[in-house]
Amino acid sequence: MSGKKVITVFGATGAQGGGIISTFLSDPKLKNQWAVRGVTRDVSKDSSKKLAEQGVEVVAADINDKTSLVKALAGSYAAYGVTNYWEKADMKLEIQQGKNLADAAKEAGVQHYIWSSLYNVNKLSKGKLPHVYHFDSKAEVEDYVRELGIPATFFLPGFYMSNIPGGMFKPSPPDDAWTFGLPVAASSPIPMYDPRDTGKYIKAIVLNREALLGKHFLGATAYVTAQEIVDTFKTLFPEAGKTARFFQVPEEMFRGFMKSQGSPDYIVDEFYENMRLLEEFGYYGGEPLDESHKYVEDPLTTWEEYAAGAEPFAKLG
Ligand SMILES: NC(=O)c1ccc[n+]([C@@H]2O[C@H](COP(=O)([O-])OP(=O)(O)OC[C@H]3O[C@@H](n4cnc5c(N)ncnc54)[C@H](OP(=O)(O)O)[C@@H]3O)[C@@H](O)[C@H]2O)c1
Repeated sequence: MSGKKVITVFGATGAQGGGIISTFLSDPKLKNQWAVRGVTRDVSKDSSKKLAEQGVEVVAADINDKTSLVKALAGSYAAYGVTNYWEKADMKLEIQQGKNLADAAKEAGVQHYIWSSLYNVNKLSKGKLPHVYHFDSKAEVEDYVRELGIPATFFLPGFYMSNIPGGMFKPSPPDDAWTFGLPVAASSPIPMYDPRDTGKYIKAIVLNREALLGKHFLGATAYVTAQEIVDTFKTLFPEAGKTARFFQVPEEMFRGFMKSQGSPDYIVDEFYENMRLLEEFGYYGGEPLDESHKYVEDPLTTWEEYAAGAEPFAKLG
């Protein structure tokens, strides 16, 4: 470990953090320069033990407990901070957790803090979409990080490709045809992101620290329209593709379905507006991806590659 800079990764057992760790452990440019510390609430669970076996220094901390965070960050040059809104779906809690992480990064003297942020949709939409709490809360934390004045870069993960196969894109009534259903127009652009690529983006951020301090960094391979998502499926899986389609789910049907799944009203509003964002303002407010891509050295996973290996599509090939 000696001589290596330490990067402390929160959410180490999760999708984003896990993606970062696998890159930092295997990348020829990073593995000899960086030591990886991974944070979890439970160091004894299997996923934590697996990280330790791979050479990660696994430490326990809870983002609700600032003291534990300062300890976890001691001696870190860089840190990746992420919160999981969906665990409690509580905006105030997510903001507090994000502020705890930022305060701890400041106290521990972290030289490059990377916050998993998102844009404030309420502001972006000028109040038209005021309920996308998990975006607005991360943006509020970003404002706080800037106020604290810690050296930071803001990584904005795109739309998880894993939301699609088997979830938003599945055999559907009346004929059981493979249907990609969203309450947006087929032409809506979706910034496609594979969380397993997170390390490729974070590599670009740490290798270009000076250029990227204070900047937003967009985490997506490409904008792909909802219709193009279906078209790629048709090419990959010609048999199932014969009847595959995009379906613009009417608002009332979308809300009714979510309620029938037990979602409370505020989550129904949140999801509906989150999807409308894609069509009406753009997930990133219409920003192109090239400014971020120019720093990324490694090939990013395309929707075609992702779909070809996606488990829910496995029997169609
Ligand atoms: N789905 C999308 O399209 C999308 C797009 C952009 C952004 N996001 C955002 O992505 C975030 C989730 O990231 P992810 O997918 O990487 O999460 P994930 O795979 O669900 O894993 C959550 C991670 O957070 C850690 N964690 C949760 N609560 C913690 C606590 N109190 N203290 C310490 N660690 C804690 C967990 O660690 P342990 O359980 O091991 O303690 C785990 O490693 C959400 O906030 C969501 O809004 C999602």
